[in-house]
Amino acid sequence: MSVAGKARKITTNTLQEMKSVGEKITMLTAYDYSLAKLVDKGGVDVILVGDSASNVMAGNDTTVPITLEHMIYHAQCVVRAVDRALIVVDMPFGSYQGNSKAALDNAIKIMKESGGHAVKLEGGAEIVESIKRILSAGIPVMGHLGLTPQSIYKFGTYTVRAREDEEASKLISDAKLLEEAGCFAIVLEKIPAELATKVSEAISIPTIGIGAGAGCDGQVLVLHDMLGITMDFSPRFLRRYLNLSEQIESAINSYVDDVRCGDFPNDDEQY
Ligand code: KIV
Repeated sequence: MSVAGKARKITTNTLQEMKSVGEKITMLTAYDYSLAKLVDKGGVDVILVGDSASNVMAGNDTTVPITLEHMIYHAQCVVRAVDRALIVVDMPFGSYQGNSKAALDNAIKIMKESGGHAVKLEGGAEIVESIKRILSAGIPVMGHLGLTPQSIYKFGTYTVRAREDEEASKLISDAKLLEEAGCFAIVLEKIPAELATKVSEAISIPTIGIGAGAGCDGQVLVLHDMLGITMDFSPRFLRRYLNLSEQIESAINSYVDDVRCGDFPNDDEQY
């Protein structure tokens, strides 16, 4: 049986073992109880309570506005639903940059109040002090390199990162730094596949790719994108497994028609 198949609960050790035997890791986002329950039942290894909740749940243009309290609320909802997956909670913008003591306090708050199993932070050398401090409290940390959406105002665009040699070599050294610091995995977002493969081979902890090609040790997608609930976002890397927005709209149209014409409720649907 596979490593993931044997695991009653996924831990950071399970992910490490999966990498060592070449078993791919699956990760999806979730932000609420009902969908998190389905994601867990579907057999996903890692559920990310992503700060993409800022876009997907709250309708913001970026991940910048979401707060620590919002992230804790979403994580609490997910934690109540999940039996098997490892739950990773994004630390929101402003909760860990610049001050490692504040980073530690905020990571502790997330762990205590949400019941999540690990936190994720965006960035390399600039935030490694915060990462080390969080790790020193026994909190597992997932890194995130490449296109780091909290830095969108620095990048100015959501296009592929690290195409140039200078940014690519910084990314490789950042990945090594995060591994040395003690991160248990690293998300690689929207970087060339060749670079992601090189990073995945250069470090012993798992890489989880999004728009980073097949050479990563695992893959992550935003749940609402892969289910076709959000349709205004169609990057090349996104595979849609359902077209739920059409199905939901059509179901709602049918309900409206049924109520308006007096077909709903019928005799069997009343007391
Ligand atoms: O917030 C998020 O959904 C993420 C993934 C895109 C990796 O960070």
